[in-house]
Parts: sequence; structure tokens; C-alpha cells
Amino acid sequence: MIKGVRSTPNLASLSPNKASANDALLLVNQALAAMDENPNTSPVSGAHVTVLLDQAVQALAVKADGVYVDGTFGRGGHSRKILEKLGERGRLIAFDKDLQAIESSKAIKDTRFFMVHSHFAGMQVRLAEMGIHKVDGILLDLGISSPQIDEPARGFSFRFDAPLDMRMDQTRGQTAAEFIAGTTEQQLAEVIKNYGEERFAKQIARAIIAERNDGRPITTTGQLTKVVASAVTRFEPGQNPATRTFQALRIHVNQELEELSLTMPQCLALLSPQGRLAVISFHSLEDRMVKQFIRAQVNRDDLPANFPVRAADLPQPKLRAVGKSIKPSPQEIKANPRSRSAVMRVAERTATA
Ligand SMILES: C[S@@+](CC[C@H](N)C(=O)[O-])C[C@H]1O[C@@H](n2cnc3c(N)ncnc32)[C@H](O)[C@@H]1O
Repeated sequence: MIKGVRSTPNLASLSPNKASANDALLLVNQALAAMDENPNTSPVSGAHVTVLLDQAVQALAVKADGVYVDGTFGRGGHSRKILEKLGERGRLIAFDKDLQAIESSKAIKDTRFFMVHSHFAGMQVRLAEMGIHKVDGILLDLGISSPQIDEPARGFSFRFDAPLDMRMDQTRGQTAAEFIAGTTEQQLAEVIKNYGEERFAKQIARAIIAERNDGRPITTTGQLTKVVASAVTRFEPGQNPATRTFQALRIHVNQELEELSLTMPQCLALLSPQGRLAVISFHSLEDRMVKQFIRAQVNRDDLPANFPVRAADLPQPKLRAVGKSIKPSPQEIKANPRSRSAVMRVAERTATA
């Protein structure tokens, strides 16, 4: 356990009697508040402008005494708004795999709020450890936060020359530089093509591996940007030629699509009837995955015409899509250009087991 970070509390040990999950959570929070005092950690600064703030919290249709999950705390814009809507007995459990996000969460002094340092694919297990098996709403605001991309040392951006890290969770896993050092040209080309939707993926992979094999390992964002630029002959106006390669490596290093595909079935299992799932995606690969998952749960009777089955035996939908996908308004995009590619999809859990 990292000092000052709330490990998953075990409610059973703290609330052996018949207290409700909400009461037990309150006890745990009080115990953890004391552990959170860590004089060696300074508050982390950094601005993140929350995308679709009102729309996302509205989509969750927050019930005052409900239990909610913010799977991507970031700097807590959505979390704070959810807390505003919760009553005394409501609870919010937030997850983030980035330690700086965890640090920043300590500014929220609210006994209804719990922060867990974990990838969101660990959600069901971590919640079960807290005695929580059902929740009333889950929000996922995918991708990276502005503080992550704007801090050169994180290695997410081609705007700075810095070590090529790109891990959201710097306590584990391979950095982008380590991945490049050990990969094959073919695997690298696949990553860049599949996750960056980059048409020059083969040329870029060839250039990167040639550089590496010539005794110049790619260890910085600056080096990577230069090598990619040398291999890309045409790119979208106003876009850095390395944009898609950086996106691809970030998605690969953080296993972003695997995380999402492991997490959506958990959301389905965790949501109580009428519980809401809201997912904000920032690129088409994620959005497609979310759309297909929701569609598959909405159209469970999608059987061939004349399939011999009685209407009563047809599998019933587990989700109901709530409205159409929601995008930021032109005003929001003007105020926060980073919101421009956001798409939110919302679904509600039906009563089907
Ligand atoms: C777009 S930001 C969220 C911003 C947040 N909604 C706010 O208003 O401040 C995404 C955050 O989710 C975290 N994150 C992304 N993928 C994650 C995952 N698989 N598990 C846990 N945290 C993740 C990132 O570290 C980042 O802090």
C-alpha cells in the first residue's frame, strides 16, 4: 500500500453488525481520514477543465441516498458535482490509477467520498472488498487529464522534450520507451495502425526500429517526434505528424481498450435496476466499443427472422439506451478545445437479471 493512499477498506472487519453498506462506508472513511495525513506529500496543482460536466451528472440521475462510482477521478470535476447532488446517506467511490489524481483527491474533505487507487477494471473486486455489490450509477470519463498531458515529465506530449513514459499509473507497467526497446517492427506497426488509425504505420515502425537498431534507442518524446516526422509524408493540416503515433502508444501502454472491455460487463453486473452508466469517450475506438456494448445489451433478442423461439423465452434487454449520444456544445468546445472529440453515451439498467 502506498503511504497516504487509501487502500481498499474491508467493511466486514469494521462493521461486523448489521449496519447498512452506507453506514459501514462512513465508518471506514472516518478511519481512513486519519491515515491520510501525510506530511511528505505536497498538494498537486494542475488544471483540468471537466468535459460535459452538467450533462454527465444529469445523465446519472443522481438519487440523494444512492451509491455512485466515478471510475476516472482525474481532478474530481465530476466527483464534486455528484457530491453536490448526494444527500447525507449518499456515497461516492472514485477510482484513478494516477497517483497525482489520488493526491489531488485529498482536497475533498467529505465523509461521503472514498478514493481508491486502482485501474477501473479492478472496480468490481475493489467494491466487493468494501462490501458494495450494487451501485446506482457509474461514470467513466476516459483518456487522460490535462495535468497529465501538460506535465512534460509524464511523456504524453510531443510539445515537450521529455522521457518517453506515457504511463497513467507510474507505479507499474512498461513505459513507452521500454515497449519500443523490446518490440518487433511488425508489432509496433500493428499498434500504430490499430490504435492510432495511422495510414503510415508501417513506415513509422520501420523508421523507429531502424533508429533503435542503429544504436539510438528512442527514449524521449523529442526523438520519437522527429523520427515519426521523417516517416510521414502527408498529414492533416494543423496536426503534428506524430499525433496518431503518440495516441497509439498511449493506448497500448495503458491498455486502454482492454481496460474498457473488461469494465463494461462489470458495470452491467454492478448496476441496480434503473442505475445509470455514462461513458465519455475521446476517440472512435473507445466510442465504438461503448456503442456496441450498449447495443448488444439493448437488442438481446436480435435473432434471425423466423427463429423458432416463443416471445416469452426471448432474452430480455439488460440495458435501455438513454437518448442519443451527447457531444459538447460549440460554446464548450470554444471554451475548452480539448473537449471537441468527446462523445457521451448513457444507458440505464433494466430489471432483467
Ligand atoms: C479525462 S480524465 C477525468 C477527468 C475527471 N472527470 C475530472 O472532471 O477531473 C481521466 C482520468 O482517468 C484516469 N484513468 C484513465 N484510465 C483509467 C483506468 N483504466 N483506471 C483508472 N483510472 C483511469 C486517468 O488517470 C485520468 O486521471
